[in-house]
Amino acid sequence: AIPIVVLISGSGSNLQALIDTQDDTNIRIAAVISNQQGVRGLERAQEAGIPAIVLNHTEYDSREAFDQALISEIDSHQPELVILAGFMRILTPEMTNHYHGRMMNIHPSLLPKYKGLHTHKRALEAGDNVHGVTVHFVSSELDGGPPIIQARVPVKATDNQESLQKRVLLQEHIIYPVAVGWFAAGRLKLDGDTAILDDRPLPPSGFQ
Ligand code: GAR
Repeated sequence: AIPIVVLISGSGSNLQALIDTQDDTNIRIAAVISNQQGVRGLERAQEAGIPAIVLNHTEYDSREAFDQALISEIDSHQPELVILAGFMRILTPEMTNHYHGRMMNIHPSLLPKYKGLHTHKRALEAGDNVHGVTVHFVSSELDGGPPIIQARVPVKATDNQESLQKRVLLQEHIIYPVAVGWFAAGRLKLDGDTAILDDRPLPPSGFQ
């Protein structure tokens, strides 16, 4: 199994999906790191017997200093892959370059639509009839790295932010383990700015 480190800031439901599928995807979660203390995701790690570490970003003088500490902590676990699972901090280019091709993020929109925050609200306000979620390799551009896999979620006329978010989250829990499993199996790579699955470049929208 390949060692991975998961970064979180909150509930950790995606972390839970990765914990629950570790055997199938052939990964071993070596550590979970949160920038927030007291969050549910830390409990989930502890319940699974995984080291749960807090690095509080407010205790550092700058984004650079925080990211340096984060890099040291992550690398002490020697992961082959670093997973952002609801990690709500913007990363410095030093950090994204350091993990080029070995860091993934999940973002609750059909990228390149709705980078940033409040994606469900923005999709509803735009009157979209389809919304969704993207797993992508991390680059220095916020939510801008090469997509790996996307799930589309139909928007219902009766949807509000909460109901839509719930249905998107169910898809997140399916596609994140898929992407991580591909990587662990050696099927997925990043070549420059192109994600490659089974020796074929993925389209800019990722595998759907
Ligand atoms: C997920 O919906 C994830 O896609 C989103 O935060 C949530 C975390 O939930 N990530 C972002 O918005 C990143 N910009 P979780 O803690 O239950 O996995």
